[in-house]
Formats: sequence, structure tokens, C-alpha cells
Amino acid sequence: MSFNIAIDGPAGAGKSTAAKLAAKELGFIYVDTGAMYRTIALYLLRSGTDIEEEAALQAALEDIDVRISYEQGVQHMILNGEDVSGLIRTPEVSDMASRSSARPAVRKKLLDLQRQLAAREDVLMDGRDIGTAILPKADLKIFLTASVAERARRRFLEMKEKGEECSEEEIRREIEERDYRDMHREISPLVQAEDAVLLDTSDMTLEQVVERITALAKEKMHA
Ligand code: DC
Repeated sequence: MSFNIAIDGPAGAGKSTAAKLAAKELGFIYVDTGAMYRTIALYLLRSGTDIEEEAALQAALEDIDVRISYEQGVQHMILNGEDVSGLIRTPEVSDMASRSSARPAVRKKLLDLQRQLAAREDVLMDGRDIGTAILPKADLKIFLTASVAERARRRFLEMKEKGEECSEEEIRREIEERDYRDMHREISPLVQAEDAVLLDTSDMTLEQVVERITALAKEKMHA
């Protein structure tokens, strides 16, 4: 039986950085499910699909083959044979991923892929609905969050470091919009699972977050 850890939480809480490091330390596979939604979003943008049109969306989804591959432990997203990992972090893709992930057909498309991975491997899966919908029986569930101000500040510093022009105020607005959409959609909204451990990272360093995740995992594994 594989050991499954679900980490859910809002955008920019530092989930992926912390989860990646924790997975490495535990010898688990890190699964970034947001990247899967982003991969589908990229296809929908490229094809100009009207996602509010059910038939058009269905037709587009049928043309999409999403695969995940690992190169030296790093997750790559393969869209119809093309490695699109470097193309899915733009604001346009973020926006489309947030909107299209509210569509039931899109969520259904990724459900099996996510469950199959978790059934096969010890995974640390990062997303919005992993503990509530995808892996309700996960061995450990963590809801990782931080204040909006802190998340905006972190994203701002990250972008500045990359030399990208941006305003902290605008980032904050985008985060608030995405939070609202992710939390209020009808299907699989972002909510803390009843049995999830809440981790507010606003005043924690990355090292402290990783340490806490690995400690919780080790506790559960040896229970
Ligand atoms: O984690 P991220 O920012 O890369 O995710 C991109 C979008 O995908 C985000 O707006 C919410 C959505 N998402 C989701 O609905 N369910 C998941 N399990 C992961 C991401």
C-alpha cells in the first residue's frame, strides 16, 4: 500500500516549494496537480475554446492527452507529446486554469490520473481538493495557508528576483480574485478537510514549514 499525503491550500501559500522539499526528504514523489490544470488551460487558450460552451469544452478535452513524467525527480507536464512545463506559469495560463478548473468536465478528466498516481506511489500531492475529493482517505492531510498580504509579498519578491515588472497591489488583487473563485466554485471548492492539519505559514520560514510537514508525515508513518 502506498502512503499518501494531501496538501491543499490557496495560491501563493508556498505549498509547492515546501511540498517539493518535504517530498525529497521523505523519498516521496511530489505531484503538482495545479500543473495539470495549467496544462489543460494552455490547450484551451491555444485552441481558443469557449469554456462556457459545454460541447466545445468536451470536444477540446477529448483532444487532450495529459501525461506527467519525472526527470531527475522533477515533474514535467506533457501535452499531446509536447513538454509544456516551461509554458504554463504565465498570468494568462493562471487565469484560464482558475476559470476552467471550475468546470466539472475538466476536473473529471484529471481525477483518474491523480488517483492512479497515488495508488501506485508514495506521493505528496499538492492541490486544492486533494484531501476532500481526490484522496479522501489520504494518510495525512495538511491545509497550508498564509495571509493574503504575506502571499502577495512573497509572490512580488519572487517576480522581482526574476526581473519581472509587477506591482504588489496588483498581485494582491489577483490572489484575492483567485481565492474567491477557487473557494466559491460549485464543484470541489477549496476548503479545509475536517481531518486536515492547519498550517498557517505567515510567520514561518520555509525550513520550519518543511520540518513540520516531514515531522507530521513521520509521526503518521510510524503510528
Ligand atoms: O496551484 P496552481 O496555482 O498552479 O493551480 C492553478 C489553478 O488550478 C488554480 O487556480 C486552481 C486550480 N486547481 C484546482 O482547481 N485543483 C487542484 N487540485 C489544483 C489546482
